[in-house]
Amino acid sequence: MKKFDLVIKNGTVVTASDMFSADLGVKDGKIAAIAENIEADADEVFDAAGKLVLPGALDVHTHLAMPFGGTISSDSYLSGTRAAACGGVTTVFDYPVQHTGETIRGVIAEKKAVLEKEACVDFASHCCITDLSDGAIIEEMEEAVKEGITSFKCFLVYKKEGWMVSDGTLAKLMLRAKELGAMINVHAENPDLIDMYTEQFLKEGKTSAWYHYMSRPEFVEAEADKRAVHWSRHLDAPLYLVHMADKEGLEACIQAKEEGAPVFVETCPQYLEFTCDVYKREDGRNFVCSPPIKGQESQDALWKAIKNGSIDTVATDHCPFQSYEKDWGRDDFTKIPNGCSGIENLYPYMLDAANSGKISFSRAVELCSTNPAKIFGCDQKGSIAVGKDADIVIYDKDKDFTISVDTMHSDCDHTIWEGKKLHGYPVRTFLRGNVVYADGEFKGTPGMGRFVKRSPRKLK
Ligand code: URP
Ligand code: ZN
Ligand code: ZN
Ligand code: ZN
Repeated sequence: MKKFDLVIKNGTVVTASDMFSADLGVKDGKIAAIAENIEADADEVFDAAGKLVLPGALDVHTHLAMPFGGTISSDSYLSGTRAAACGGVTTVFDYPVQHTGETIRGVIAEKKAVLEKEACVDFASHCCITDLSDGAIIEEMEEAVKEGITSFKCFLVYKKEGWMVSDGTLAKLMLRAKELGAMINVHAENPDLIDMYTEQFLKEGKTSAWYHYMSRPEFVEAEADKRAVHWSRHLDAPLYLVHMADKEGLEACIQAKEEGAPVFVETCPQYLEFTCDVYKREDGRNFVCSPPIKGQESQDALWKAIKNGSIDTVATDHCPFQSYEKDWGRDDFTKIPNGCSGIENLYPYMLDAANSGKISFSRAVELCSTNPAKIFGCDQKGSIAVGKDADIVIYDKDKDFTISVDTMHSDCDHTIWEGKKLHGYPVRTFLRGNVVYADGEFKGTPGMGRFVKRSPRKLK
């Protein structure tokens, strides 16, 4: 019998803190050895000379097959996780929604049954709580955490969808999460201001995609960011702000972090790449997501925080819709299903930023893999280290790649990333030692992905 199942030779290993030349030995899906020279006694030997060897990314913010905006987001659990594998993402977090009367574990079990059949990479779910069901949810959280479901989401918007929670519900969930070592993720925008502007613009006949942005400008997001941060500081309860897009809210988070509040911040590649000017384009509706992409000042602040360590994670908010669905809102921005695709672009985009010298490769790894694994309790994920899952991406720094819908693996007929040129690209992805992507082609099998049972945060 061979000593290893897989040996990766001659590569440069990147961790969140280091870069060094080493060989890797993989056995039974785990990284079993890291050394200067490992004998090629393995069923498969991969020569990574001249290439970087990275931990697989965790995309901790996706919406697969999600009923929303009068339709269902176009990527299934199969096509979404297939695209993930091809972009170097080896763990995907989804956001199933609990409705009134439903239990957390019921909602997760329903999705888990589908994911076990379809997932091409490992998976976990943050459960969106929309109703406390007379306190039953607060009770149930303890069991959910024991089963490895350690994060929950609150929407401070989406009133008409029935997803929005009150500040009271948010506070109760935050306090309970604190007690259990769980995390509360928050989508922060102010619903009343959005409604006020939306009504006004529609009355005035201002219906283009630009008015999606104008009805949810920077200060509308900032108010809700600050409100959530305020609760976190005063309740001393963990808060993970998803898809941070505005400068003022970000600054409030940074200040709270500096004061020791347990606040964590996520942003998304679309906020780092584009500005609100995209909403003036003829195809502006394709960029409609919530919160909307903001102005240059916010983008600059986000990049500053990416560079100096104030942002903790980058994830995609992957939520694609087909062109015909985006077209429903040609003449009325309120009819555009909110969301864009990005699951396959996350790691290549952040690694391109590293390749061009904007950030280090270690920082790209920290943002896309190590920090998300730590924040959400994925103990087996997030680094190249002995004992971790062998979720490994081989990255060719010299490979030029232009993003096009034709080369993506999502089930969506367009991408906001069309034409984006990247210097450097993943050439191989291993999921627990198995090849799931090689040189532009998906090589995995639906059902390969496994549920990631997560650990609670350490209680103070
Ligand atoms: O526009 C978006 N982001 N759609 C998905 C739902 C959400 O708010 O994250
Ligand atoms: Zn439901
Ligand atoms: Zn959201
Ligand atoms: Zn989202």
